[in-house]
Amino acid sequence: METPSSPQAWYEEWFDSPHYHQLYGHRSDAEAQAFVQAMHKQWGWQHCDVLDLACGKGRHARAAAQLGHNVVGLDLSHNSIAAAKERAGGLPNLTFVEGDMRSFDLGQTFDGVLNLFTSFGYFDRADDHTAVLGSIARHLRPGGFLVLDFLDVAFTKKHLSPSDTITREGVEYAITRELKPGTNGGWDTFVKRIRHRDSEDVREHVEKVAALTNPQLSGLIQSAGFDILERFGNYALDPWAEGQTPRLIIHAKKK
Ligand SMILES: C[S@@+](CC[C@H](N)C(=O)[O-])C[C@H]1O[C@@H](n2cnc3c(N)ncnc32)[C@H](O)[C@@H]1O
Repeated sequence: METPSSPQAWYEEWFDSPHYHQLYGHRSDAEAQAFVQAMHKQWGWQHCDVLDLACGKGRHARAAAQLGHNVVGLDLSHNSIAAAKERAGGLPNLTFVEGDMRSFDLGQTFDGVLNLFTSFGYFDRADDHTAVLGSIARHLRPGGFLVLDFLDVAFTKKHLSPSDTITREGVEYAITRELKPGTNGGWDTFVKRIRHRDSEDVREHVEKVAALTNPQLSGLIQSAGFDILERFGNYALDPWAEGQTPRLIIHAKKK
C-alpha cells in the first residue's frame, strides 16, 4: 500500500476531481435505485446493516437507506463523501465516512457489503486486492453477503473503443483505452487516459482496472473466506454469460 508521503495514486486524484464527476455525471440515481431495488427483492433483505464500499456520492447507499436499511457509505474521495453527506436528505439510517477500502476499521460488522460499479481492481499489487477483500470479510457477520459488481472482461474487450471524444459543459475530453498485457503471469489491465485542456495546459488523468476474469476474481473472493452463490450479468440481475453480458456481478456469502 502507498505510504502517505508517496505521490498521489491515480485513484486518489481522478475520483476526487470535478472532471471525473463532469464526465460521468450521466450515471444516474435512477439506475442505482433500480439496481438496489432488484437486489432487495431478489434476496428479500429485511432491515439489514449494509456497507456500501467505495460509495462515491452515495447513490446506492441512499437508495438502500430509503428502503429502510441501516447504511454506511465509505469512500476515499473527500469531495465525494462531502457531496454524499449533502445529499443524504437527513435520513437517520444513513451515514458516510472517508476511508481506504484496503485498511478501514469501522468497529462494527454488517449483514452485507456492496462494492458496486467497478469499484475493485484499482491497485498495481495483488496484495492490495487481497487486503480489500480481507477488510470486507472482517466487517461481515458470519453468513453475511457480499455483492461485488465488476466488469465482464470478455465483453469489455470485445467492445473496447480505442479512442473517442466526449464534450461535457464545454470541456472536450479526449479518451484513449487499451488493454495492457500483464507481466510475470499477472493479469492484464484496462488503461483509460483522459486528456483535456485546463487554461493553457493539457491535463491527463488515468484510470486503471485489473482485467480480472471470472476464475481470477472468484478465486480472490473464495480465498478471502467466501462461498460464491450466484453470478449475474446486468443490473436487472439476468444470468451472467461470459462475453455476452456487460457485468460480472458476484453474490457471495461469508463462511
Ligand atoms: C467507479 S466509482 C463508483 C462509485 C459508486 N460506487 C457509484 O456507483 O456511484 C469508484 C469509487 O471508488 C472509490 N475509491 C477508489 N479507491 C478507493 C480506495 N482505496 N478506498 C476507498 N474508495 C476508493 C473512488 O473514490 C470512487 O468513488
